[in-house]
Amino acid sequence: MTVRHFLDTSDLTKEEILDIVRLGRSLKECVAVGYYPPLLADRTLGMIFEQSSTRTRVSFETAMTQLGGHAQYLAPGQIQLGGHESMQDTARVLSRLVDVVMARVARHRTVVELAEHATVPVINGMSDYNHPTQEIGDLTTMVEHLPAGKRLEDCRVVFVGDATQVCASLMMVTTKVGMQFAQYGPRGFQLKDAMQELGRSNAKESGGSVTVTDDPAVLRGADFVYTDVWYGDYEAELGEAERLAAFLPDFQVNAALMAQAGPQARFLHCLPATRGEEVTDDVLDSPASLAFEEAGNRLTAQRALLVYFLRPELVNPHRVAAAKARLDAVLGETL
Ligand code: CP
Repeated sequence: MTVRHFLDTSDLTKEEILDIVRLGRSLKECVAVGYYPPLLADRTLGMIFEQSSTRTRVSFETAMTQLGGHAQYLAPGQIQLGGHESMQDTARVLSRLVDVVMARVARHRTVVELAEHATVPVINGMSDYNHPTQEIGDLTTMVEHLPAGKRLEDCRVVFVGDATQVCASLMMVTTKVGMQFAQYGPRGFQLKDAMQELGRSNAKESGGSVTVTDDPAVLRGADFVYTDVWYGDYEAELGEAERLAAFLPDFQVNAALMAQAGPQARFLHCLPATRGEEVTDDVLDSPASLAFEEAGNRLTAQRALLVYFLRPELVNPHRVAAAKARLDAVLGETL
C-alpha cells in the first residue's frame, strides 16, 4: 500500500475529513472518561520544528503518550538537518527510525520534499502555505458548537484581517465540507487569486462559497468570526507602523465588530494572539470566544490524525477486506 501523507486538506476527501473529525470526537470522549485506548502502542512520532510552537508541539506529544506511543522532539540545531545533511537523506533515515514524522517548516517546499523521500507518513505541522492540522481542530470546534438547527453546510465563517496561512487553511477546509467562507480583509492583504480559485473549486463540488472583500457588511449574520495575527506581507517586510496602519481600526476584532456580526456569532482564533492588535481582551475572554477550546481541540485533532495515518487498517476496514479478498484469490489460484 502506498504511504499517505497529510500536507494539505486537498490530500483528503470531504468524507475523510468528516471521518477524522468523528474519530477525534470519539477518542476525546474515551479520554474524558479515563479510557486511553492504546492504539499507537510502541509507535514513535518524530517531530521536526524549524520554528517555535506551543500548541502543535504539545498536542502531538500528548496525543502520542495518551494512545500508548512516544514522540521525539527534533529541535533545530539538535539534529543534522540544517547542517550538511540533506532533507532527502533525513527523510530516508527517519523513515527507518520512526513510524510517522510531523514537521513545522518555514517554507512549504521543505515538507513536500520530506514527504517525497519518506516511506512513513509525513504530517505538515504548519508551513508558510497552510496549517492543515489546525484546520481539523477548528472544524471539530465548529462541529461541537453548531448553531441550533444548523448543519455545517448552513454555516458562514468570516475570517477577519490578514490572509495568513491559517486564513488559507480555514478557507480550504470550510469549502471542502460545503460551508460558506468569507475573508474580510484590507486590499493588499487578501487571499491571492490562485488560492481563492482552490477554494472556489472546492465550493463548486461541495456547495459552499468563497467571498473576499473589504466590505464589513459581510460580517452580518456570521456564525463564526475568526482571526489570526497580522503578519503583514512575508515578502514585503513591513515596518511596525505600516503593518498596524494596514489593519487598524477596521479589521480589529473588538466588541463593535462582533456586534456587527450579531449576538449569534462565536469567536475563533488559532492562537497565539497578540492581544490589543487583531483581537481585544473583551472578545478573546468573552463567553462568545471558543479560542481556548479550539486550542484544546488541537489535541482532539492530533489523536485522530495519528490513528488515521498510522492505523489505516482500523479506519479503513473495507480496504483491508478488499486486500484480503485479493490475497485469497491469489492463494486460490496458486494452490
Ligand atoms: N496555532 C498554533 O499552531 O500554535 P503554535 O504555533 O503554538 O503551535
